[in-house]
Amino acid sequence: MMFSRSTHVIVCITASFLFMDPLNVLLIIVDDLRPTLGCYGDKLVRSPNIDQLASHSLVFQNAFAQQAVCAPSRVSFLTGRRPDTTRLYDFNSYWRVHAGNFSTIPQYFKENGYVTMSVGKVFHPGISSNHSDDSPYSWSFPPYHPSSEKYENTKTCRGEDGELHANLLCPVDVVDVPEGTLPDKQSTEQAIRLLEKMTMSASPFFLAVGYHKPHIPFRYPKEFQKLYPLENITLAPDPQVPDGLPPVAYNPWMDIRQREDIQALNISVPYGPVPVDFQRKIRQSYFASVSYLDTQVGRLLSALDDLQLASSTIIVLTSDHGWALGEHGEWAKYSNFDVTTRVPLMFYVPGRTASVPEAGKKLFPYLDPFDSLSELMDPGRQAMDLVELVSLFPTLAGLAGLQVPPRCPIPSFHVELCREGRKLLKYFRYHDLEEDPYFHSNPRELIAYSQYPRPADSPQWNSDKPTLKDIKVMGYSIRTIDYRYTVWVGFNPDEFLANFSDIHAGELYFVGSDPLQDHNMYNDSQGGELPRSLMP
Ligand SMILES: *[C@@H]1O[C@H](CO)[C@@H](O)[C@H](O)[C@H]1NC(C)=O
Ligand SMILES: *[C@@H]1O[C@H](CO)[C@@H](O)[C@H](O)[C@H]1NC(C)=O
Ligand SMILES: *[C@@H]1O[C@H](CO)[C@@H](O)[C@H](O)[C@H]1NC(C)=O
Ligand SMILES: *[C@@H]1O[C@H](CO)[C@@H](O)[C@H](O)[C@H]1NC(C)=O
Repeated sequence: MMFSRSTHVIVCITASFLFMDPLNVLLIIVDDLRPTLGCYGDKLVRSPNIDQLASHSLVFQNAFAQQAVCAPSRVSFLTGRRPDTTRLYDFNSYWRVHAGNFSTIPQYFKENGYVTMSVGKVFHPGISSNHSDDSPYSWSFPPYHPSSEKYENTKTCRGEDGELHANLLCPVDVVDVPEGTLPDKQSTEQAIRLLEKMTMSASPFFLAVGYHKPHIPFRYPKEFQKLYPLENITLAPDPQVPDGLPPVAYNPWMDIRQREDIQALNISVPYGPVPVDFQRKIRQSYFASVSYLDTQVGRLLSALDDLQLASSTIIVLTSDHGWALGEHGEWAKYSNFDVTTRVPLMFYVPGRTASVPEAGKKLFPYLDPFDSLSELMDPGRQAMDLVELVSLFPTLAGLAGLQVPPRCPIPSFHVELCREGRKLLKYFRYHDLEEDPYFHSNPRELIAYSQYPRPADSPQWNSDKPTLKDIKVMGYSIRTIDYRYTVWVGFNPDEFLANFSDIHAGELYFVGSDPLQDHNMYNDSQGGELPRSLMP
């Protein structure tokens, strides 16, 4: 039974909740983090602080992003609308002028009396958030960006030749890098300063902290490499481009090829492969970046705990999408494979997912990933149902006791506040709220939708990130607990119209027998006849 543990405690506490102050929200958004975490069953990766958060949280084991690239995914879940509604498939438009004046999660909290604050990469910077992280609408005061962010793509990585390079693999000695710090360290420090201020505030707060790692380049304190000796690093179980993969589904991971250390390898475009010893090094640096990120989460949560905020703050941790670590011969996001669409998603709700900590007791003591962890951490409550990031908005609103925005009409471009996702409140056992109509649904009928655009039917220079005007094909995916079904159909970027009778290719993977999605069964099935009506 999923909720058997301490149910009686939860029920008692919930009743007293109605009389309590509103809960604060700490939303942690990690960049390019797939669920390679201890709490998601990864045996190699050291993530004790995130695992500890999970142990007090409800952990969604099957959560999916709506498009596996930063700006479209972030705008989608922060507005609670799908990419077909935000009309953002690239990095180049601001939804308020391009699609509709959609409210965001922080805007909604701000309008409901919260102080809302952004630290680091929450919205994707640039046009897609009007060069202001959607200020002033989303935030109570200007968002914070770490000053050392500007060095991320510069030559700060010491190569084997002793010179500085703009490499993909970039373990650094932090005292040697410009400003003597790294962006995520600065973001943690700023977030802690803001939390300290908030202990004096009469209003509840909504603090979003966007971490940069493990996004490329893998620029992290070099000591984290020691957690992952190269000889212990395995390759992806399926490092080949699968035979039955339609070329339109493949993306050529052009961005890592621009880094100096990858250029030096003379890897052929578009299919590679990356030399085997270098595959190990990429995986090592991704895992080391995750452990470094985990220590930042640990510092932040430990400070929150010290400030006595753990009993009054909802904590959510998620990521904008995943990243392929060599699976299917790919080293990037930009696809519809689970390795790029599946994300960690966990909610700590004081008094609901864990009992309120006793005075003087810490829920989130900082854990050092270098200490060997003999005993297994409590895995927390697990939800196996498929859920979508687009459901974050209504779920957070409901958990904080705000009115859940109404379901969106179709189309909804003219509606500023509505939700396309489900409210996931039933998983938290609310008895004081109306039930979601999906409460009694069959888990087999739950669907997570994702999509990815392409400029052509075969991989080319801009297949990873086509700009809107270049999009010719859209891959629409349905992920159920049993299969992933993707149709790549003609797309008209002027009209934003997909033509489902113009099918370019299809993919069908049965998750039970083919969890890694290497055996495309589309041509063996009546692929085109599968439930087209289920498309959003
Ligand atoms: C968009 O929404 C914001 C926030 O509610 C509001 O201030 C602004 O006037 C709206 N813009 C338009 C064009 O309706
Ligand atoms: C976007 O930013 C510009 C420059 O600050 C501002 O003039 C404009 O009103 C903003 N757009 C919206 C929709 O708020
Ligand atoms: C590496 O693998 C060996 C053999 O399985 C194991 O004893 C060792 O603890 C591993 N090292 C790390 C840092 O995980
Ligand atoms: C890559 O190609 C260049 C030029 O063709 C050659 O000089 C170099 O040795 C090659 N490097 C490797 C690692 O194969």
